[in-house]
Amino acid sequence: MLAPTSLLLVVSTLAVTLVSASITHNLAYDSPSFRVRSLGTDRGEVQKRHKRWEYYDGELKFPYGVASGDPWPDSVILWTHPVPSTLDPRPVCLEYQVSPTNGTGESWSTLASGQVWTTSDVDYSYKVEATGLQPKTTYYYRFANCADETNVSPVGRFKTIPEEWDDQVEDVSFAVYSCSNYPFGFFNAYGNVARKDSVDYAVHVGDYIYEYQGDGCSDENACYGDGRDINRVPQPNKEIFTLGEYRQRYATYRSDPDLQLLHQLHAWQLVWDDHEVADNTWKSGSADSNDTIKGSYNGTSFTQRKANAVKAYFEWLPIRTVDTDDKLRIWRTFKFGTLADMIMIDTRQYNRDLTDLYYTTADVEAIKNDDPRSLMGGRQENWLYGQMRNVSTRGAQWKIIGQQIVFAHLELVDDVDAWDGYTANRRRVIDTIHDNAIDNVIVISGDSHANWVSDIAYDNRTGYDRTTGSGAYGVEFAGTGVSSPSSFGYNSTLNGPYPPAYYTAVSQKLVGNATVNQELQWAEGATRGYFELHLSRTNATAKYYGIADVRTRNTNETLLATFVVEDKANKLSRPVAGGEVKGGSLRGSA
Ligand SMILES: *[C@@H]1O[C@H](CO)[C@@H](O)[C@H](O)[C@H]1NC(C)=O
Ligand SMILES: *[C@@H]1O[C@H](CO)[C@@H](O)[C@H](O)[C@H]1NC(C)=O
Ligand SMILES: *[C@@H]1O[C@H](CO)[C@@H](O)[C@H](O)[C@H]1NC(C)=O
Ligand SMILES: *[C@@H]1O[C@H](CO)[C@@H](O)[C@H](O)[C@H]1NC(C)=O
Ligand SMILES: *[C@@H]1O[C@H](CO)[C@@H](O)[C@H](O)[C@H]1NC(C)=O
Ligand SMILES: *[C@@H]1O[C@H](CO)[C@@H](O)[C@H](O)[C@H]1NC(C)=O
Ligand SMILES: *[C@@H]1O[C@H](CO)[C@@H](O)[C@H](O)[C@H]1NC(C)=O
Ligand SMILES: *[C@@H]1O[C@H](CO)[C@@H](O)[C@H](O)[C@H]1NC(C)=O
Ligand SMILES: *[C@@H]1O[C@H](CO)[C@@H](O)[C@H](O)[C@H]1NC(C)=O
Repeated sequence: MLAPTSLLLVVSTLAVTLVSASITHNLAYDSPSFRVRSLGTDRGEVQKRHKRWEYYDGELKFPYGVASGDPWPDSVILWTHPVPSTLDPRPVCLEYQVSPTNGTGESWSTLASGQVWTTSDVDYSYKVEATGLQPKTTYYYRFANCADETNVSPVGRFKTIPEEWDDQVEDVSFAVYSCSNYPFGFFNAYGNVARKDSVDYAVHVGDYIYEYQGDGCSDENACYGDGRDINRVPQPNKEIFTLGEYRQRYATYRSDPDLQLLHQLHAWQLVWDDHEVADNTWKSGSADSNDTIKGSYNGTSFTQRKANAVKAYFEWLPIRTVDTDDKLRIWRTFKFGTLADMIMIDTRQYNRDLTDLYYTTADVEAIKNDDPRSLMGGRQENWLYGQMRNVSTRGAQWKIIGQQIVFAHLELVDDVDAWDGYTANRRRVIDTIHDNAIDNVIVISGDSHANWVSDIAYDNRTGYDRTTGSGAYGVEFAGTGVSSPSSFGYNSTLNGPYPPAYYTAVSQKLVGNATVNQELQWAEGATRGYFELHLSRTNATAKYYGIADVRTRNTNETLLATFVVEDKANKLSRPVAGGEVKGGSLRGSA
């Protein structure tokens, strides 16, 4: 919009300040780093290209909806991605507006707002921190076109978290997600929770997008998804490497209505796994890329590819930049009063030692017990143990460790890309619990495309009784994928699952042996879905929801099993799942 000429003369100096202030508040320019300037987008350069007082004055559309994330007691990250109706080089200006009520006219009372700009430099991502909020409070928010206040986005909603020392918090709940693979199926798992309105927050522990090709794949191992039959071919229709390609992939995912609805209704807390960058990443490469000439893909080195992926991630997701000059750190803790801490770690991209790259399986098998091997690097490990110890000092009751890969020791799976490939790191986590007598640790995991519920024990299971659970150091809740195909097996000819009996047989085998997989109490691999984690002063309850059909968009889900962990019991309550499940197999009943 062009300011009236008379006013323009008066305010032209001021306008410079305003523009710079408004670009400053768009955190997308800090992606992926606000301190290493060359990694972010230079705001000064952006401003030089634009007439400073002029922004786009046409209609804006909001095809990717709205989102909020990383709630704190007094602030939150708000996100949208406006699209101008006509191609236009000018910046886009939006006013974010936060209100305690949802409604138009008088029932909408804006209490936090700001006019902020976005440009093509950041793919029109718009990411701001709304501040000055009250703890434990539900708010509504929207984005209005600065040029036309009637041109507004859909209204979103979020809840701030309690203050750290608040001991009046009686409950908090999360829907926990992983592995949402667009061409493999519909995101019913997201839509169901939004429609039920059954939790406070959404947590995603990684594989929010997939980088590989969704159509016409040649290599069955690296790429077996095909979205053609359900009209879900992700764009671009190729494996992605460049910044533009990662951005386009996010745009495909975020056009999904169920994903949009869950983002609209809940603040999310996310950490990435491997596929936000590439398959089976570790600190220096992935299954199909690294920094040698041979391993770089069409000229894109792994290091460049990772930077591209991370930049697009920060642009598209409502996550705070934690300390991005520190190797793109995203590990961070959310404190829900004295009831719970959600300690989110990055076992994947930050500083993981060599993983299973398919051609290194035997190598990793040979070194998996080496003491120095780490999933996190020393700095993050020390931080994690500090958080675990510190929270017990502060008195937060539940310590939830939000992370990517399956933690339990599973001989019959032996996935050396999971904690089983880094056994000394697992031992150090359990040592921290043991040495400091830390109660109420719950590890939550994704990555595996199946459900696994376990007590936590040392690999040698010293002192652990699989029947009673005594001697356990906590509990792991690992969830299946939103839509990624079962790791128990998938019929690629049929492009669909095997019959249910097949999965029951696999799960029985996994829990049916008294000497192996001992801490595993429930395994299920037939359904896609998520679990809800409800924390209270007396117990933590996990409700696992299974979705049999993701090849259509539908609301059908089954409550497969409910698990309870009593305060300070540090093990699953017996009988596990009340002795009754509607899918998979329980140890003891197999
Ligand atoms: C706010 O109200 C509008 C109009 O009734 C409705 O469409 C929208 O879903 C509401 N948003 C939230 C987050 O409740
Ligand atoms: C890089 O990838 C290529 C191709 O996959 C592989 O042959 C090579 O060993 C890898 N190099 C390193 C250093 O991992
Ligand atoms: C690599 O480049 C060639 C030639 O441009 C192209 O055909 C191929 O699809 C590219 N491969 C990937 C994985 O992008
Ligand atoms: C421990 O917790 C307190 C209170 O949250 C915080 O101020 C302090 O920095 C924490 N210490 C460490 C080592 O994390
Ligand atoms: C089992 O492992 C723990 C942790 O490494 C160790 O402290 C303990 O001595 C081991 N017990 C036996 C019987 O080997
Ligand atoms: C996979 O599906 C195809 C096509 O329906 C079927 O012929 C084949 O028997 C299935 N394979 C298994 C192992 O069930
Ligand atoms: C249990 O697993 C062990 C180790 O793999 C194996 O030797 C044994 O035969 C299994 N027992 C049964 C009943 O399958
Ligand atoms: C768990 O805690 C909730 C909230 O206090 C309570 O309603 C529920 O009955 C408890 N469940 C069990 C099994 O104790
Ligand atoms: C819902 O899913 C369950 C479990 O697969 C199935 O038994 C039931 O028939 C489905 N219901 C509908 C209405 O599709």
